[in-house]
Amino acid sequence: MRKQIAAANWKMNLSLQEGETLLETIIKQDGNLSDNRKVVFAVPAPYLVMAVGKIASEPHIHVAAQNVYSKKSGAYTGETSVAMLASIGVDHAIIGHSERREYFNESNQLLAEKVKICLEENITPIFCCGEALPVREANGQNDFVTRQLEESLFNLPAEQIVKVVIAYEPIWAIGTGKTASSDQAQEMHAHIRSQFAAKYGDEVANSISILYGGSVKASNAKDIFGKPDVDGGLVGGSSLIADEFIAIIKALK
Ligand code: 13P
Repeated sequence: MRKQIAAANWKMNLSLQEGETLLETIIKQDGNLSDNRKVVFAVPAPYLVMAVGKIASEPHIHVAAQNVYSKKSGAYTGETSVAMLASIGVDHAIIGHSERREYFNESNQLLAEKVKICLEENITPIFCCGEALPVREANGQNDFVTRQLEESLFNLPAEQIVKVVIAYEPIWAIGTGKTASSDQAQEMHAHIRSQFAAKYGDEVANSISILYGGSVKASNAKDIFGKPDVDGGLVGGSSLIADEFIAIIKALK
């Protein structure tokens, strides 16, 4: 079975103390995790060391960076390299979140470099894709997302692409309380999988986890995660509330 993943994206929220309490509360719960059912916490950069420490004895819980820099090392003041992340035990990174694409002008080409450099350090990229509302209204979402995949991922060989996790996050559903319906999510996830199948074959396509993100909460997670091509979620606001996120973990297939 493909890995089912509940990933928390705290974005730029919480104090260190609030983050510690939240992690402790969630980790204490029995989420019925396994090699195929895992949890990832994408915490703000200053809390990564703390988070890695908290999950040290939890084999199915991982810590992610919310971003990485595209260069290996050097005079890039303020940036964080993948080697630094790997050296503290971070093994996942969110790449190409729509907020970074929008506010920091991250292009598909730059994101291709970031994905590649993550893989070189055995950091699993959680690659975000998804369309804005005008694209959806013009029914252009499939072509838009295909282009994001082509320009950032499809230069990778099959043995690398299987290490990437995809997060489909329609921009119009992020932080808006407006979720894509589970059918809309399924439709896009099936489309994404079909693009992988066309490029890499069915076996590769069927092994890639595709998460849904955008106003996932305890009350809708089961419905969305229940769809055949939805392999869990990337969760913003609801990941900041212990009971909500615990319920979301329990809603994994
Ligand atoms: P919300 O769950 O707050 O809509 O955010 C989704 C998201 O952007 C996760 O990366």
